[in-house]
Amino acid sequence: MSDAATPKGGENVTTGSQPIPRITLHAFMEKAVDRQNLSAACSDRRMVRVTNEVHEGSVANAAEHYSDQPTPNLLIVDVPQDREKAFAYLQTLAEACDPGTQVVVVGTLNDVGVYRDFMRQGISEYLVSPVSSVQFIETIANIYANPGAQPLGKVHCFAGVKGGVGSSTIAHNVAWHMAETLGESTVVLDLDLAFGTLGLNFNHDGGKGITEALLEPDRLDDVLLERLLFKAYDKLALFTAPASLDAGFDPAPKALEKVLDVVKANFAHIIIDLPHSWAGWARGVILASDEIVLSMTPDLTSLRNAKSLNDFLISQRPNDVAPRIALNMMEAPKRPEIPVKEISDTLGAAPAAILGYDNVLFGTAANNGQMASEVDAKNKNSLALLDLANILARRGLGHSAIAAAKDTSPLAPLLALLKGLKA
Ligand SMILES: Nc1ncnc2c1ncn2[C@@H]1O[C@H](COP(=O)(O)OP(=O)(O)OP(=O)(O)O)[C@@H](O)[C@H]1O
Ligand SMILES: [Mg+2]
Repeated sequence: MSDAATPKGGENVTTGSQPIPRITLHAFMEKAVDRQNLSAACSDRRMVRVTNEVHEGSVANAAEHYSDQPTPNLLIVDVPQDREKAFAYLQTLAEACDPGTQVVVVGTLNDVGVYRDFMRQGISEYLVSPVSSVQFIETIANIYANPGAQPLGKVHCFAGVKGGVGSSTIAHNVAWHMAETLGESTVVLDLDLAFGTLGLNFNHDGGKGITEALLEPDRLDDVLLERLLFKAYDKLALFTAPASLDAGFDPAPKALEKVLDVVKANFAHIIIDLPHSWAGWARGVILASDEIVLSMTPDLTSLRNAKSLNDFLISQRPNDVAPRIALNMMEAPKRPEIPVKEISDTLGAAPAAILGYDNVLFGTAANNGQMASEVDAKNKNSLALLDLANILARRGLGHSAIAAAKDTSPLAPLLALLKGLKA
């Protein structure tokens, strides 16, 4: 895909995290830009289950091709400008189509009358060329969205750009805020199977938790899920890691996919606590998530790693929001640090959350098996974690930013609002 076809950071897919089912998709399109954009759409994380073939051509070629071949689940075809000709070819194609095949038409005329005429022919959608990758993804997602289906939970993946930067602490606190402050059903998955801290941080002796689900994914249903999860609060469930060396295996991608499918059907937010790892399975989890939070500290190694991870993830996920940066442990005593401005300039965006070094707050919380807000709800780090939860839950500007702004100048709420809109 060329950059010109779908600009980086331009359009984002808005239809959510619902993966498109295992369908076959064939396309016959004249314009290279449409073929490139469809091919790019097919490599999007929501389309990994779709098998595709993209050909140069139009409805005329498709009609001929399928006269003696079975049709795929979804066909995307270019139509000529001449409407009579277009309808004639579509009619021939319709006669060759197996029942259940959906047809999407790509044309050049941007006119509501043309759109209605095509829709009356029984096609699923009419798109005007050039069609962006995001338009292709959304169109296909809409065709296969099950109207009776429950909305699926959003997956937020938390990863540290190096070990020990506070990624798990931030993930657990954000999950707590989503559940306790925002009142949304939330589950945390600890994928640091050998050394995870989820159980410890919530004062719970883990048991086998997530490993049982990952070892026998086919047995996982709502009943088993209920048994394996620990309900830490009314709306917060934990899928803890056993944190034992025996559990130090790499989860199989198929098992992870199954576990995620089941939790997504049961919770509004899924927080994944990923160990610092670049193994294939961990990379797969990050790439497939709806939101990514990269935690870092203000040092050179962190910044180098954050830059390479951030650039890589943006390039691999052109139809998604960029990873959010959580800058942690600022102003640690006696330690030189890189200023926020330099970090923002290097990464090309300001951090979504900035947390100060606070041994007392996080040390007390860790020792008591509590979250930061339970120790001190007014601490600025507790409030910054709430802001991050608000951003991820798409609740707009965090409450603490508004509260902080009110304390300063009459113009401050407006400035805070502008800052919030930029975040
Ligand atoms: N802002 C902070 N100020 C002081 N201590 C902090 C802060 N954030 C986290 N910590 C502490 O740092 C330690 C490491 O945190 P945590 O386990 O969350 O990091 P991690 O990035 O998940 O590490 P790992 O690479 O082992 O998974 C913990 O003891 C935690 O309490
Ligand atoms: Mg961790």
